Amino acid sequence: MKNYPIPRIDKDSVLQNMLLKYCRLDKGEIWTDKQKKHKVGCLDSNNISDLKKLVGNQKATLALHDPPYNMVAFQETNVDEFINWSEKWIENSQKLMEKDSSLYIWLGADQKNDFQPFAEFILMMKKTDFKSRSFITMRNQRGYGTQKNWMSVRQELLYYTLGNPIFNIENVYTDIPKVVKGYYKEVNGKTTENIERSKSENIRAGNVWIDVQQVFHLLEENVNGCFAQKPLKAIERIIKVSSNKNDLVIDFFAHSGTTLLASEILDRKCFTIDIDPIYCEISIRRLENFRKTGKLGWQNSNPFLEEIKSDKVLQDYLNEKYELSFSEFGDKK
Ligand SMILES: C[S@@+](CC[C@H](N)C(=O)[O-])C[C@H]1O[C@@H](n2cnc3c(N)ncnc32)[C@H](O)[C@@H]1O
Repeated sequence: MKNYPIPRIDKDSVLQNMLLKYCRLDKGEIWTDKQKKHKVGCLDSNNISDLKKLVGNQKATLALHDPPYNMVAFQETNVDEFINWSEKWIENSQKLMEKDSSLYIWLGADQKNDFQPFAEFILMMKKTDFKSRSFITMRNQRGYGTQKNWMSVRQELLYYTLGNPIFNIENVYTDIPKVVKGYYKEVNGKTTENIERSKSENIRAGNVWIDVQQVFHLLEENVNGCFAQKPLKAIERIIKVSSNKNDLVIDFFAHSGTTLLASEILDRKCFTIDIDPIYCEISIRRLENFRKTGKLGWQNSNPFLEEIKSDKVLQDYLNEKYELSFSEFGDKK
């Protein structure tokens, strides 16, 4: 199969400018899905009047946010600024959430810089109405920093709640069968074995997730052009456990639209935003592409392939800068 990727869009301002004209949303605009009433807004997580325009008087059962914490890791902003900024979107998130609801936040901990912004973030959360519930670590398959340090393979996920939200316990199990047997216990005078006592033959995910494959280019769900995609399996797990069908899920940092797609697959309604029109467009296209083809992403292609086919300037740029050949399309022109 021929491969038509595009490079990381965030790193290339020329490419961004070339793609912008193919994006249906301008800053401040909202796209409403005609079929299931999902919404994608080109909005700012810290602008509450924008967010109110997005949700109206609806309230979310689940908020699932993946902020751009690499700003801190790569020292584009200092940690205090990041925390002040985060305080505002956390406050905004609460305003859109039901009194009994769940909040999940993906967060990094930069091991070269005092594990920023993790410590500062959890201290900031202490001052809010959210109650801490779990600190989940997801294991990546690929790592970095292996020569003089422990290979870094973790992604942190914080779980907080308001009130007394649902927790669908039947969905906390992995696909991994329980192999350790023989823990005996007396129940009502009868000796029982652990498998007999348990609700599932599979192990629970617990708060260390070892069973989720990190997204990389060979996976169908891969979205070429994006750089910070979360695995669908992880997002689906959160949605299944902390919401019910038809509930509203919100996500302030859409990027490749993983929460939107998972909500579609699981029959939830999703309102998501991204400050960048290009990632809003990618999120919408990912949903549309899934509905049309059943595919979860663009493993051998990219969200803008149709435009690249007919835009010679864009084709030449990708060819010259990245040696990406779209020549079979070019020849047809
Ligand atoms: C880490 S990515 C989210 C990845 C996403 N979970 C996924 O699976 O694709 C962060 C995204 O936040 C967006 N962003 C940054 N600042 C924002 C803001 N103030 N409001 C809304 N989106 C913002 C960026 O454009 C980027 O696409």
